[in-house]
Amino acid sequence: MSLRTFVGEALTNFPTVAAISPSSRYLATAMLEPLTLAKTRVALELGAGTGAITHVLLDQLPPNATLLAFEINPRFFDCLRRTISDPRVILINSSVENLDSELHRRGIQQVDSVISSLGLAFMPDREREALFQRLSPFLHPKSVFTQYQYIHGLQFVGGRLCRLNLRPLLNRYFSSVQSKIVWLNLPPAFVFTCHAQTL
Ligand SMILES: C[S@@+](CC[C@H](N)C(=O)[O-])C[C@H]1O[C@@H](n2cnc3c(N)ncnc32)[C@H](O)[C@@H]1O
Repeated sequence: MSLRTFVGEALTNFPTVAAISPSSRYLATAMLEPLTLAKTRVALELGAGTGAITHVLLDQLPPNATLLAFEINPRFFDCLRRTISDPRVILINSSVENLDSELHRRGIQQVDSVISSLGLAFMPDREREALFQRLSPFLHPKSVFTQYQYIHGLQFVGGRLCRLNLRPLLNRYFSSVQSKIVWLNLPPAFVFTCHAQTL
């Protein structure tokens, strides 16, 4: 059911969904592996979709952790609400444009782990920049951020398709940025691991 929901929304709303299918188990694992989940008290998931990464994440988060999961799409949000009933999760049906206000109003000052599947390539430059400006004040030196990007890495600029290199953007906000490829996903993807402070 969630696969049908996902593909249906991808077809009607591609620039926001920015994917043709939910992340594979391999991509979900690669996104979570670099995080220090055993020590995580507050985790943030940006663009939870139908929960492909969320469910794997919940298997690994400690019992006293809180996961705030942002999802803008109402059908995906509905799917998340129906499939996740875990007291550690706060599902937020809002854009990451409201990230700071949504965190502040829940008394959250810092986040330990951030997992982003947002289609950064489809966001205008200023929106991408604004996202990291909003997120940065919540990161502490040991925070870890992961983001995936499909290997074709295409973006629309002035109605034309170009390749987006995420590294310069990530390097501006993080002290260390590493990447690896996950082939077992449709399509294959780079996983970027970013540390707030150099290890
Ligand atoms: C590439 S999909 C990833 C979905 C899921 N995490 C996965 O890996 O299968 C990106 C998700 O980000 C959501 N999204 C896009 N822009 C958003 C925004 N500004 N705020 C919150 N969610 C957003 C989309 O609706 C979509 O569910």
